[in-house]
Amino acid sequence: MKVPMLDLTEQYQQLRPEILAALEEVMSSAHFILGNNVKKLENDIAAYSNVKHGIGVANGSDALHISLLACGVGPGDEVIVPAFTFFATAGAVARAGATPVFVDIDPRTYNIDPLKIEEAITEKTKAIIPVHLYGQMADMDKIKEIADRHQLYIIEDAAQAIGAKYKGKTVGELGTTACYSFFPTKNLGAYGDGGMIVTNDDEIAEKMRVLRVHGSKPKYYHHVLGYNSRLDELQAAILNVKFPHLDDWSKLRIEKANVYTEMLKELEGVVTTPYIEEHNYHIFHQYTIRVQNRNELQKFLSDQGVSTMVYYPKPLHLQPVFEHLGYKEGDLPETEKAAEEVISLPMFPELKLEQQEYVVSKIKEFYAK
Ligand SMILES: Cc1ncc(COP(=O)(O)O)c(C=O)c1O
Repeated sequence: MKVPMLDLTEQYQQLRPEILAALEEVMSSAHFILGNNVKKLENDIAAYSNVKHGIGVANGSDALHISLLACGVGPGDEVIVPAFTFFATAGAVARAGATPVFVDIDPRTYNIDPLKIEEAITEKTKAIIPVHLYGQMADMDKIKEIADRHQLYIIEDAAQAIGAKYKGKTVGELGTTACYSFFPTKNLGAYGDGGMIVTNDDEIAEKMRVLRVHGSKPKYYHHVLGYNSRLDELQAAILNVKFPHLDDWSKLRIEKANVYTEMLKELEGVVTTPYIEEHNYHIFHQYTIRVQNRNELQKFLSDQGVSTMVYYPKPLHLQPVFEHLGYKEGDLPETEKAAEEVISLPMFPELKLEQQEYVVSKIKEFYAK
């Protein structure tokens, strides 16, 4: 049996007529940039996030970058980020000309450890970027308390967490801005790149709308240096077809996650299944376990037709591009340990029970040896 990490083909077949019709409508209208589809998605996703504004941008990385710029983050400033995340979280900080300050994670949730944030704050700190990794929100109350006390912005990296909840609050409600990615593999994935920023702050929203169109307002008049970073109308048309299904897809992911966790119980002590904070609604963008002999397991599973992924094998504080910041191995022990032990199993709403049974049977086979 072959079990892919992710298979988007079935979802496309289910939605094909609607998606093709939506694309046809855009092409017939010949309105390709910031048209009605982008507007509709912005309104719908802002409402979904319980905030006033949605701003469609080219991708999740730009969503972070533009958020930072709109908050006035630039050279000389520091921004606190977890080191256990996708590169874009810290890349956006560096692209804004500021310095990422890396903080360790809570080893249970893999999210930034609020207790470590306080120690990292200096008079240069301007913002915190909590990442809601794998689909579970970071400890926002504690982060917000610290941010409020030190007057820092919170930019939520919600690239992996659309639809997740924390104490009944959704992504975007507690941060200054929240950034979504519509990269094709995300829970709400486009057929190319796409992203969106949501915020309740009118002034920051307006700045971000200007920044995504070359800093121009009115058109052809530039007071700030902006970018060409807009959510594509064709991608928005596809996303408008997919968005109404998002919550059902998340429920299916949660069901699959529960199945994995139940099946893996036998391996307690060898395999650590995901820890979900009681107050969290985890939407399982990834189903990530912690194991011994991770690399050998991954190779074994691959030989047996099971694809898996490691998110992420090299922590950001140890990336060559950030060498000049002077971090060394051992600085963030929980991050470094997680990078050696995590492995994500196949996860998508259409994943079949037989496939999950096969994946788990192969994991059991590996550890029986
Ligand atoms: C945690 C995280 N942050 C940021 C991004 C960047 O999003 P994008 O690929 O849309 O630029 C991603 C996804 O790739 C991500 O997983």
